[in-house]
Amino acid sequence: MNSVPKTFRVKSFGCQMNVYDGERMTELLGANGMTAAAHGDDADLVVLNTCHIREKAAEKAYSEVGRLRREDGSKPLVALAGCVAQAEGAEARRRSPMIDMVVGPQAYHRLPEMVAEAVRGGRPVDTDMPAISKFDALPQRRRANPSAFLSVQEGCDKFCTYCVVPYTRGAEISRPWNDIVVEAQQLADSGAREIVLLGQNVNAWSEGDRGLADLIRAIAKIDGLERIRYTTSHPMDMTDALIEAHADVAKLMPYLHLPVQSGSNPILRAMNRSHTVESYLAILEKVRAARPDIALSGDFIVGFPGETEEDFAATLNLVDEVGYAAAYSFKYSPRPGTPAASMEDQISPDVMDERLQRLQTRITEHQVAFNRTSIGKETEILIERKGRFAGQMIGRSPWLQSVHVETDAVVGEIIPVTLLSAGPNSMKGAMLAKVAA
Ligand code: 5AD
Ligand code: SF4
Repeated sequence: MNSVPKTFRVKSFGCQMNVYDGERMTELLGANGMTAAAHGDDADLVVLNTCHIREKAAEKAYSEVGRLRREDGSKPLVALAGCVAQAEGAEARRRSPMIDMVVGPQAYHRLPEMVAEAVRGGRPVDTDMPAISKFDALPQRRRANPSAFLSVQEGCDKFCTYCVVPYTRGAEISRPWNDIVVEAQQLADSGAREIVLLGQNVNAWSEGDRGLADLIRAIAKIDGLERIRYTTSHPMDMTDALIEAHADVAKLMPYLHLPVQSGSNPILRAMNRSHTVESYLAILEKVRAARPDIALSGDFIVGFPGETEEDFAATLNLVDEVGYAAAYSFKYSPRPGTPAASMEDQISPDVMDERLQRLQTRITEHQVAFNRTSIGKETEILIERKGRFAGQMIGRSPWLQSVHVETDAVVGEIIPVTLLSAGPNSMKGAMLAKVAA
């Protein structure tokens, strides 16, 4: 028997979808009578909401579990959640005796029951992907960040040969239109000024003949909500309707995260990406025609099996050609059970390190260049948090730049600024006089 937990902590790793799931678990545990442990305090229950996309992330989760043992030898109740939980199932429990519960991303609405079972001494595992949506069993949204996540789509049918997501998150499913619009309204009522629509393949969202563009247009009608973003998109689902929304929905922010992974067609084919460098660039051209100031971002994998120096040079060329405002790059990590893990010509770690470094240097150059072109612009930022110094606040520009500004404005306000100077990761701005309402 364990004692009934009074306090809890949810710790999320990995992508924004996990951050969203973490928020919903927090709300659920709160609605079931537990309170979030104060910062730095020991919690009676710890939920580790894990990521499985790269090897290190899973290792990190297991070592995180180990660190939960207290100095006196006792431990909190530990729930392993997220994609490592889904992939490992009962195996995770065997691998670490510290783990009391294993709960997958589609089953976390059952967390309170599982905690009760763990209190009785059980070690429940639930990695089902039930037909009945967890969303129906979760409490209403009552608190929201100024920029709030809203999951609209989960899973992936694309089966890129390196990726575990189709296995851990299952097939693509779209949440119902009505549920999403209701949740968006709840978030707006709870203080959200911006909504970020989330999905592993967010632009594959559909219901009947309606697509993501229709959903964005509906959410844009909500009063009080000023900004809409969406992530992550797949080139294959980048419809003309969605591109058009960038031209005429004022609340849709000029930012598009569209992963490409590689700038070499043979590698894209081996990755099963279903697009070429040329078709990817053609999409970006249309997007830029619709919204000329759009900030583009992408994901890259270096060292995919068989990647030659020539393939890698093509990736650098693509980075130069697109001029990304931001981009994320990763060393290829073989994931058990994925086709690429058993491909020949796996690339040595040294070569991967060296390529990653060259790619990141190039990306940073473009990031700085993009930020420099913003200097002098008058725009608006959404204040998200306090800065390091008294009177300093940090907000986001429409292009997702982090902007530091001295102001008496508070979190959640949208204020006019001039962008003054740029580094690779943030900009400085000066507040302009607020326009009288
Ligand atoms: N190895 C390295 N990076 C990966 N990604 C997905 N799977 C792997 C892998 N096995 C990257 C892709 C994807 C991002 C979320 O993570 O770039 O877009
Ligand atoms: Fe993974 Fe490819 Fe699906 Fe993205 S599109 S989640 S990289 S399989």
